[in-house]
Amino acid sequence: MNDPRAPGLAASADDVAAHVAATIRPEIRALAAYPVAKAEGMIKLDAMENPYSLPADVRARLANALSEIAINRYPDGGADVVKAALRASLALPDDVALMVGNGSDELLQIITTAVAKPGAAIVAPDPSFVMYRLYAVYANARYVAVPLQDNFDLDGDAMLAAIERERPALIWLAYPNNPTGNLFDAATVERIIRAAPGLVVVDEAYYAFADRSFLPCVREFANLIVVRTVSKIGMAGLRLGYAVAHPAWIVELEKVRPPYNVNALTQAAVPLLLAEHALLDEQARAIRAERARLTSALSTIAGVTAYPTATNFIVARAPDANALFAALRVANILVKNLHGWHPLLKNCLRITVGTPAENDALLKVLKQA
Ligand SMILES: Cc1ncc(COP(=O)(O)O)c(C=O)c1O
Repeated sequence: MNDPRAPGLAASADDVAAHVAATIRPEIRALAAYPVAKAEGMIKLDAMENPYSLPADVRARLANALSEIAINRYPDGGADVVKAALRASLALPDDVALMVGNGSDELLQIITTAVAKPGAAIVAPDPSFVMYRLYAVYANARYVAVPLQDNFDLDGDAMLAAIERERPALIWLAYPNNPTGNLFDAATVERIIRAAPGLVVVDEAYYAFADRSFLPCVREFANLIVVRTVSKIGMAGLRLGYAVAHPAWIVELEKVRPPYNVNALTQAAVPLLLAEHALLDEQARAIRAERARLTSALSTIAGVTAYPTATNFIVARAPDANALFAALRVANILVKNLHGWHPLLKNCLRITVGTPAENDALLKVLKQA
């Protein structure tokens, strides 16, 4: 570039800072950007990913399909092929609508944006998925966190009292819950849906590892949306989530969805991989089996409590989570240290279930620490 301006003419840092401070909302400036730990060369057990890669023949077919895509063109704005593949794999009835997002994260933000009237309250159990609170902050909504019980169960009475008091526009229920891993009592969830004056979103990011789902109930309740993701079943890198509900909800949410939010490579890859039912089922089965083995092995370590889980991760409490986290890092194993997140999570680590070899490496360090 042939820029005629002298290089010394940069705005001063103080001037930029003053403009930022005067312009960016204080509640945004008070936040920290979502931290994603660098995991190069480490055993990665921190983000609830599926630890298994794809077999060579599937990768070859994927590469072939992706090489055909016209990436000079925008993707299909309606994402018709990927939606048809999802509908078929879920056996969705015609009178139920589906929309797709760039990860379910995007759908959570779209839903929050759509309901956030001035003064609107959003209720969720606490601790739960951290993005619920952040999206409420972004949308200027009032976020009301209702503490879980000590055993991580929903406090049904406290939730109903919050519904009565706050008349929330939106209630989040992660089913199963992140970061605690447990599946809330279905009857309590139902009571909440019935009592809610607004929308209830049941977030089933971990459905593949749980035996219960509210997906079959979306026709029954007028105020229920079920959100899911393909991230935890082996496609985290593709970023695809979906919301299922009565069409009248989806019509409104579609107005908030950015055009072309799901890219062309994802739209081609997801149908191809969803067709690999046997592979996906087998991987989920292997993760569940390893989850059982890892849970019992963790429970045999002195001072460690491994909590029941219906997900692909395990919450384990230890006498000193910080020390264990550090020892694991030295051994190049990355887990999530939940200590300090919430009083209920004191001295807790969140451990994603890995391959048998990865889990063995983790157990070896924990037993020696
Ligand atoms: C409960 C819950 N919901 C939603 C998400 C977001 O998933 P994604 O944006 O990868 O679809 C996560 C991710 O960890 C989660 O735990």
